[in-house]
Amino acid sequence: MRRLLLPDTGATNDLAAELAPLARRGDVLGLVGPLGAGKTTFARAFIGALGGSGVVPSPTWPLVECHSTGAGDVWHFDLHRLEHADEVWELGLEEALADGISLIEWPEIIERLLPPARLMLRLEHADTGRTVILEPGATWGSRLRSVTGGV
Ligand SMILES: Nc1ncnc2c1ncn2[C@@H]1O[C@H](COP(=O)(O)OP(=O)(O)O)[C@@H](O)[C@H]1O
Ligand SMILES: [Mg+2]
Repeated sequence: MRRLLLPDTGATNDLAAELAPLARRGDVLGLVGPLGAGKTTFARAFIGALGGSGVVPSPTWPLVECHSTGAGDVWHFDLHRLEHADEVWELGLEEALADGISLIEWPEIIERLLPPARLMLRLEHADTGRTVILEPGATWGSRLRSVTGGV
C-alpha cells in the first residue's frame, strides 16, 4: 500500500499513463473516491495511454464504455447510480472481467464480485490537488515495484 500526492490533474494523468502498460486482460482497477476526486480523469488518461479509441456506448446502460486499445478492450464503468450489485451483469461485467481490462468508478457496490487481480486506487481531495492510496491485489504488488520509483 502506498500513498502518493497528485498535486494537479497532470499528476493524475501521469500516474494513469504509468500504470496502463502494466495492466493485462482480466485486471480490474477500482477507482474509489468522492465526486470530483479524479476517477474519470484517471480512467480517460489510462485509456488514452493505451491508444484507446472507438468508444462503443452500451445499448443498455449509459455508464459503461468499451474502448478498443492495443492491450485489448478496456471497459470503463461508472457504478455511481447502480442500485443493486446484480444489475452490473447487465452492463457486460462478465465479458469485461473475462477478456478485458476493467476500470470501475464506485466499485464498492460490487466489491464481492471483483477478482483478486485488482488494483484499488483510493483518491481523496487534499489541500493541494489530490492524494491516492494504491492497494495492490494478487500480482499487482510486484508489478508496481517494476515501475520506475516503485510507485
Ligand atoms: N490531482 C488533481 N489535482 C487537482 N485537480 C484534479 C486532479 N485530478 C483531477 N482533477 C480535476 O478534478 C475535476 C473532477 O475530476 P473527475 O475526474 O471528473 O472526478 P470524478 O470522476 O472522481 O468525479 C476535473 O476538473 C479534474 O481536472
Ligand atoms: Mg467520474
